[in-house]
Amino acid sequence: NNYLKTYYIGKEIYLFKEVLSTNNVAKFFAEHGTDEGAVIISETQSKGKGSRRRKWKSPKGGTWLTIVLRPEFSPSKAPLITLATGIAVARTLRKYGVDAQIKWPNDILIAGKKVSGILTEANAKFATLDYVVVGVGIDSNIDPNEFPELNKYEITSLKEELGSAINENKLIANFLNEFELVYNDLKNKKFKDLLFEWRSLAHTIGNYVEVHQPLGKTLKGYAIGINKKGALIIELNNGELKKILSGEVINRDK
Ligand code: BTN
Repeated sequence: NNYLKTYYIGKEIYLFKEVLSTNNVAKFFAEHGTDEGAVIISETQSKGKGSRRRKWKSPKGGTWLTIVLRPEFSPSKAPLITLATGIAVARTLRKYGVDAQIKWPNDILIAGKKVSGILTEANAKFATLDYVVVGVGIDSNIDPNEFPELNKYEITSLKEELGSAINENKLIANFLNEFELVYNDLKNKKFKDLLFEWRSLAHTIGNYVEVHQPLGKTLKGYAIGINKKGALIIELNNGELKKILSGEVINRDK
C-alpha cells in the first residue's frame, strides 16, 4: 500500500488469516531461501509465542507480524536487533500521540501498561547468523478485556488509549518504515545513536528494579544503563555492577 516507503523491508508481504505463529512461518520461509525483508502477517495466531516460552494471545484486531532478516553481523549483536525493533515500535506508537516507552529488553509500554512485545529468534550457522526472525505483536485494535486472565491494569491497547480504532495497514506501514531506518542504522554500525535513542525511550533506566533471572535468582538494584551489546547494567545494593543478559525487570520503589 502507498503508506509504505521502504526499499526492502516489506517488499514481499505474506498475509494469512490464521497461523500457529508468524515466527514459525517466517522461519520456514527463511529456511527456504526467502529474501531479507519479507514480512509475514496473520490476522490471528492460534499458538502465538511470547518470550520465556510463554503463550502470546493473538486475537483478531491485534497486529501480529514477523520480519525475515539476514544480517551480516555477528550473533553477539543479535540482541541489538530486539532493541532496535523496540525503538521502531515506540517511534510508531508515538506518532499517534501516546507516550510509548521501552521496558528492557522487549516490551513496549504506554503509561506502564504493556501494549506490544517483541520475540527475536536467531539461527546461527557456525559463527555467523544465517537468519533472524523478528516477531512483533501490537495490541492495536483490541479490547484489553479480551485478556481476562491477565491483570487488565497491566495491559492496554492502542484503541483503548486513543478511544477509537486505528487503520491497521497504516500502522504496519509506519512500523516497517521505521524498522527499515533502525535496521539500516544497525547495518551501518550506528550503535551509539541507537543506544542513545533507546535510553531516551527507556522505562527501565534510572529506576530501582527487581530482576528475575531465568535460573531463578532475583536481583535488586538501580538499572543504570545498557552496554553496547544490549545487556542491562544493574548497580546492586553493595555497589557491584552486574550485567544482565536476560530476565524480567520490574520497577520497584526503594
Ligand atoms: C513477549 O512480549 O513476550 C513477546 C511477544 C511476541 C509476540 C509476537 S506476535 C508475532 C510473532 N509471532 C509469535 O508467535 N510471537 C511474535
